[in-house]
Amino acid sequence: MAPPSVIAIDGPAAAGKSALAERLARALGYVFFDSGALYRAVTWAAHQHGVDPRDEAGLANLARRLDIRIEPSDGSGRHAYRVLVDGRDVTASLFQPEIDARVSVVSAHPRLRQVLLPLQRQIAARGGVVMAGRDIGTVVLPDAPLKLFVRAGAATRAGRRYEQLRRRGVDADLATVLAEMERRDRLDSGRAVAPLAIAPDAVVIDSDQLSLDEELALALRLVRQRDP
Ligand code: DC
Repeated sequence: MAPPSVIAIDGPAAAGKSALAERLARALGYVFFDSGALYRAVTWAAHQHGVDPRDEAGLANLARRLDIRIEPSDGSGRHAYRVLVDGRDVTASLFQPEIDARVSVVSAHPRLRQVLLPLQRQIAARGGVVMAGRDIGTVVLPDAPLKLFVRAGAATRAGRRYEQLRRRGVDADLATVLAEMERRDRLDSGRAVAPLAIAPDAVVIDSDQLSLDEELALALRLVRQRDP
């Protein structure tokens, strides 16, 4: 048996999915694909083009026209990848609070999700991919041979996001970050289509109990178990 060609990692905002996905991809020589960046890129473009986050048809049309590329970065920035929208590198704009505030509303629209679905499947079909998101194990890649679900309490996640924002020089306060995170959790988990959910065959990793090294060791053990 070969090692799993795709690994799905789902979980709520700031649970540590990206950190784990990035390190796991590096350890296996795989590509890390962050599907949240796709939704963020559409949210950014909608803002630029004056498309309302509630305008489902407008968002789906916009997403169909956009050329969104997610490429490995050269390692100089804060992210393991860079996001190009119609050739322009917008990575730094995607993690601003204005995008955080809109992205859950944008990503709840079924028709927009439908447009982005084939894109994610095409990337997975190339193999050698660790894909992170909310619905990767449940909807995008239900047959993924290894699925992880990374979770942590809201207070832990808000603390991490707050530190991240401060490091990036964004003026934030913890109570607002926590309230915003809980609002986003409600939207991501409560939406009708592809809500955040644990796939029945996913392995749950409680990231507030483990260090990143321990999480990586656990994930690599699971990879080896599927590649005896
Ligand atoms: O992982 P993130 O915080 O960058 O994701 C941004 C938003 O995108 C999140 O609020 C929900 C949405 N999302 C989604 O609906 N499905 C995915 N597979 C990934 C992200």
